[in-house]
Amino acid sequence: MLDNKVIVITGGAGLLGKNFCHAVAAQGGVAIVADVNLPAAQEVAAKIAAEYPGRAEAVVLDITDKASIDALIETLHARYGRIDAVVNNAYPRNPNYGRKFEDVDYADFCENLNLHLGGYFLVAQRFSRYFVAHGGGNIVNMASIYGCIAPRFDIYKDTAMTNPVEYAAIKSGILHISRYLAQYLKGKGVRVNCLSPGGILDRQPEPFLDAYKAYCNEKGMLDPQDICSTLVFLLSDATRYITGQNLIVDDGFTL
Ligand SMILES: NC(=O)c1ccc[n+]([C@@H]2O[C@H](COP(=O)([O-])OP(=O)(O)OC[C@H]3O[C@@H](n4cnc5c(N)ncnc54)[C@H](O)[C@@H]3O)[C@@H](O)[C@H]2O)c1
Repeated sequence: MLDNKVIVITGGAGLLGKNFCHAVAAQGGVAIVADVNLPAAQEVAAKIAAEYPGRAEAVVLDITDKASIDALIETLHARYGRIDAVVNNAYPRNPNYGRKFEDVDYADFCENLNLHLGGYFLVAQRFSRYFVAHGGGNIVNMASIYGCIAPRFDIYKDTAMTNPVEYAAIKSGILHISRYLAQYLKGKGVRVNCLSPGGILDRQPEPFLDAYKAYCNEKGMLDPQDICSTLVFLLSDATRYITGQNLIVDDGFTL
């Protein structure tokens, strides 16, 4: 579905990112594993390239640094002569991220918004500039069910977990900036969509998993692989006429 498309996945060494990169290579694309953690990105790329030679490359990228994004675009254009898509998927946060509402400092609130929402803005701005100048492109922004609905705080009962207020601001912001950008770029050959996963399994405590599953259709929390086919769909020409949309993959949690 992605024959020879050059696709940049930011945060490509992370939980979802490495599975996305693998799926891109499996569908015939070239996965650019772009991460601030270069050794981790190299490990991911090496594993993928062992299975799909020439279909994965690791590069260092800081999504909060304009020069880093521009350098990546320049390097990739020089090497491949094209970039087809970027997936805004990195997950930057500061060490105080994840506190309960009452405990969030103003400075931390601002910093986490700057890193994540600001970083996604910067990647979208720099790549859309490149795409407009080079005949088009495709931007997929990772949002979340928590950009779509208010958290169901009852599922965190009896756990140390919460749903950070910054996440609500960041993900709802990403959803709306994506619509803004899709509208802004109309007629320029660039489409912009969001993918909003439900919770992803990552060794969470049992009481939380059970409470979460009670809101779902069948499985509850999902595996990273459960999200990949929708990403591939959004990156492929099958969705050529879809722009400004948000696809939710959450086993019915938000219903
Ligand atoms: N895991 C979930 O349950 C879940 C659910 C819904 C949405 N999402 C979204 O999916 C995306 C990926 O989440 P994840 O769980 O795979 O995250 P993760 O923490 O497993 O991985 C994030 C990756 O981003 C990289 N990164 C951090 N700061 C960076 C920066 N400044 N520049 C470049 N790379 C940077 C990290 O090194 C890491 O490899 C995020 O947008 C997240 O909000 C995740």
